[in-house]
Amino acid sequence: MKLKDLYINFFISKGHKQIPSSPVVPENDNTVLFNTAGMQPLTPYLKGEKHPLGTRLVDYQKCVRTNDLDEVGDATHHTFFEMLGNWSLGDYFKKESIAWSFEFLTDVLHIPVEKLAVTVFEGNDLVERDEESAEIWKSLGISEDRICYLGVDDNWWPNMEMFGPCGPDTEIFYFRSNDPVPERFDPKDDRWVEIWNNVFMQYNHDENGFAPLKQKNVDTGMGVERTTAILEGVDDNYLSSIFKGYIELIEEYSNKPYDGEYKKSMRIIADHARAVTIISGEDSGIKPSNTDQGYVLRRLIRRIIRHENKLGIDINGEFLSKLINKIIDDYKEYYPELEKNREVVLSVVETEKNKFSKTLDKGLKEFNKVALSSTKVIDAASAFHLYDTYGFPIELTCELASEKGLDVDVDGFHERFKKHQELSRAGAENKFKSGLAGTSEIETKYHTVTHLLNAALKIVLNDKNIHQMGSNITPERMRFDFNFDRKLTDEEKKSLEDLINSWISEDLKVTKSEMSKLDAVKSGAEAMFIEKYPEVVSVYTIGDVSKEICTGPHVESTSELHHFKIVKEEASSAGVRRIKAILD
Ligand code: ALA
Repeated sequence: MKLKDLYINFFISKGHKQIPSSPVVPENDNTVLFNTAGMQPLTPYLKGEKHPLGTRLVDYQKCVRTNDLDEVGDATHHTFFEMLGNWSLGDYFKKESIAWSFEFLTDVLHIPVEKLAVTVFEGNDLVERDEESAEIWKSLGISEDRICYLGVDDNWWPNMEMFGPCGPDTEIFYFRSNDPVPERFDPKDDRWVEIWNNVFMQYNHDENGFAPLKQKNVDTGMGVERTTAILEGVDDNYLSSIFKGYIELIEEYSNKPYDGEYKKSMRIIADHARAVTIISGEDSGIKPSNTDQGYVLRRLIRRIIRHENKLGIDINGEFLSKLINKIIDDYKEYYPELEKNREVVLSVVETEKNKFSKTLDKGLKEFNKVALSSTKVIDAASAFHLYDTYGFPIELTCELASEKGLDVDVDGFHERFKKHQELSRAGAENKFKSGLAGTSEIETKYHTVTHLLNAALKIVLNDKNIHQMGSNITPERMRFDFNFDRKLTDEEKKSLEDLINSWISEDLKVTKSEMSKLDAVKSGAEAMFIEKYPEVVSVYTIGDVSKEICTGPHVESTSELHHFKIVKEEASSAGVRRIKAILD
């Protein structure tokens, strides 16, 4: 049985209910691009909201982390990975959590206790030294020498800076080496690798500081890829059963062994192909673009193609679709949307490949020319030219440059980029995003009509408390989620269309002003994520019908929008409705 199934079954036997993985592209949270941990979709419940399935939950969650993108290519870093987690929402605490982790590792996975060690929290002003966890570990058979007390940098999750539920944790380490296991555990010795993190979430951190949560929770996380590799006795995740088939396919099509100089490219292809499949295989319909998740998708696909090319794989051949199909076959049992969206995924990859393969060769030649004439740094103009003319994401130029020992004037590139696009690429993780910052003309129009819809809903449904819960724009349509607890009637949908179309025909002017966050709120501007905005914000006003804090861009006046039409109205989640609409 696979690790995922063993884990879920074990925690079900301990009274947990299995919950499905949430989408990796968060549905109603446009403050982050991707889910990066199992607990993320559970935040409201960790803060005290009642979960419909009770107080003991277990799942495997799709996660994507892009902050380590440059590290991918080594033996252990991934963009997409799966995280196993079990939760107590104000139910059990340290004793059961630690005892069950120990039981699962030693009895179910048969890991010898001699190969385990743990860290516990050394204490700070908020929380005392965690003697309790240490005592529990000792009572289970972990010797004192294998327990280390560490501070907030190691044993506080997520860290002292980030907002949200948090707390001290105890981390479990495995000795991954054939060397004799040292008596004394040294967490700095990298033969000890962390396999499981049990967080005792007791605080909520916000701009006012740390406040105790309503309840004491347990949040745990175990990476499937790393633990599978450990159980299979390999120290390279790509040699585990998870990746082996993909690496073999790459070897076959490149006619090169997984060895030496080829390893890095092979790992990047295998890793990124999984991430691309998972991201574009979701119902959110993310497509490659120049912003947000779409930009990550574009970077990943283009990086795959560049490394295929490097390995001598025919980029216009069948290799990539074979690999994607194989990934879907491996994961569809766990994520059924992949089978449903198989053709979508294949076509996303094919379309992006067609776009990029046309310019890759010429772009590489251009890059080599630039590299030859650069002494230390590739200047901003050249980097921008590679982007603008050959579709080289700046990160790709940086990667190519570093292979030749060169730097790139990335700041200068971004200045140029801003000047040309009037928009910076909204891609940096962990920063506020409107989720809407499209750059094309049609996306800009959808962006403006999103504000009109937000205003029209309040009027037509006669409820000032209706707000945007999520939004997503593609060149084909807009999607808007809002808090409302029933289906809209046909009359209501018609009234929404009529009202918005009347605003469009009135040719209302769209104006932008900069002001402090406080003034914006005082002026009555709609603001959903007030704590995440910078101190000075842009407020967009449309005639006298709408005023919202927003990063733009928008059209200049509503007549540019032509005609608004709702194509679908449906439930998105409990208490949240979703409208899909087009401009025609
Ligand atoms: N939320 C914790 C982690 O991601 C369990 O490590």
